[in-house]
Amino acid sequence: MFLGIDVGTSAVKALLIDENSATVAETDIPLSVSNPHPFWSEQNPADWWDATLRAIDALHRQNPGALAVTRAIGLSGQMHGATLLGEDDMPLRPAILWNDGRAKKECDALDAALPDLGLRAGVATMPGMTAPKMIWLQKHEPELFAKVRTILLPKDYIRFCLSGDKVTEMSDAAGTLWLDEESRSWNEAAIEACGLLMDQLPKLVEGSDVTGTLRRDLADRWGMTAGVIIAGGGGDAATGGIGVGAVRHGDGFISLGTSSQIFVASDRYRPKPEELLHSFTHAIPGHWFQMAVLLNGASCLQWVARLLGESDIGALLARVEAQHNAPSDILFLPYLNGERTPHNNPYARGVFFGLGSDTNREAMVQSVLEGVAFALSDAQSRLHAAGTRCELPGVIGGGARSRYWIQLISDIMGTPLARYEGAAKGPAFGAARLARLALTQEPVEDVCKKPAIEEVIEPDPARHASYQPRFAKFRRLYAALASEFT
Ligand code: XUL
Repeated sequence: MFLGIDVGTSAVKALLIDENSATVAETDIPLSVSNPHPFWSEQNPADWWDATLRAIDALHRQNPGALAVTRAIGLSGQMHGATLLGEDDMPLRPAILWNDGRAKKECDALDAALPDLGLRAGVATMPGMTAPKMIWLQKHEPELFAKVRTILLPKDYIRFCLSGDKVTEMSDAAGTLWLDEESRSWNEAAIEACGLLMDQLPKLVEGSDVTGTLRRDLADRWGMTAGVIIAGGGGDAATGGIGVGAVRHGDGFISLGTSSQIFVASDRYRPKPEELLHSFTHAIPGHWFQMAVLLNGASCLQWVARLLGESDIGALLARVEAQHNAPSDILFLPYLNGERTPHNNPYARGVFFGLGSDTNREAMVQSVLEGVAFALSDAQSRLHAAGTRCELPGVIGGGARSRYWIQLISDIMGTPLARYEGAAKGPAFGAARLARLALTQEPVEDVCKKPAIEEVIEPDPARHASYQPRFAKFRRLYAALASEFT
């Protein structure tokens, strides 16, 4: 039995799989995000740990026998979050998250100091990454900055709580801007440019390596044996890839969660910072991936449903689908949290354009679904410009539950999309697979199998054509407003 833990933004998920990769038990403990100032996004590391304890306690209650025979734990997590520990190894402040936009000026400073950073770090300098946040902290919270002993990523803080080890692995280190992606080692010049020393960063391993063993008191709490190993694991993009078997060159998927990504695995390091793509080390040795990252996704649907007082999203989508007979007259720019690919603009915000006195709630929701699909299409064009193609991406994440939305995305992007059986498995499942790889050292391809395809959704050519003028207008609308977002 293998345990996967995903330290997400909206929840900590814990999931147990057996030797046949079947899910035996799973549980989610919700988390909330705090936005104390415009463009800030923070969470308390103590809340992640509390949710992790509660998640595994719940698994233990549901299925004590399964934890008793669990031999390995794998970790996954939201990427880029700066988790800062002092001399006493306690968090010094709330962690600054992946969708925090405060450090834009610091990105410009980093670019000026290290003009080749994007080519080594695999991505253009963006405020969501870890490095510019540390320059911001040095400037705005200098006393606290001086106390920082260790900088960890969110899942690696949970590793520290589970085993006492300060270790990260390639695929999460990839999102700091401090990793030299090609050589898979820390880039000392980038670390020093942020006023930091190498010994403030954790040790670096591969996602399928063993990093330590579970603390004895925790093993006793959950009825586990001594010596349960902890695997390196991965950032949530990479573990999502491991979960759907996206490891060979050209394998890919679209993740439609709080954020969304188009992910394509790669046989070598292919940096394209000028296209605002993320070219990162994968969670298994000798593999990389390229990814377009959108800071908004199924979260836009949740947001509009909440505002409209719609508690049953399935019923809402059924009404939208029944009313849908053409592209919406309304355009929605889905940049509620700013945007990375293709804009690198933390200040971008959501926009409804074209509302009329006849606009009803279903039309507004349709425009939100279309807006996310246009943003994915925009991001896909950057992958195509980089020469990257993915034959049949599957869709995973919360948004994948709606067949109607996937059809709409396929129509707008003009791309066939697969629906997987068990689409919602995602990063925690990938983390459990990494736990297995670390324990058994089996060949990657034997463990990282692709899920069965439930259905291939083909784009409707007439609908694709009817959406192209709307897509062009969507792009013009952002271009016209870009300088207004400050
Ligand atoms: C990837 C990214 C998000 C976060 C949140 O670059 O920022 O996927 O990891 O899940």
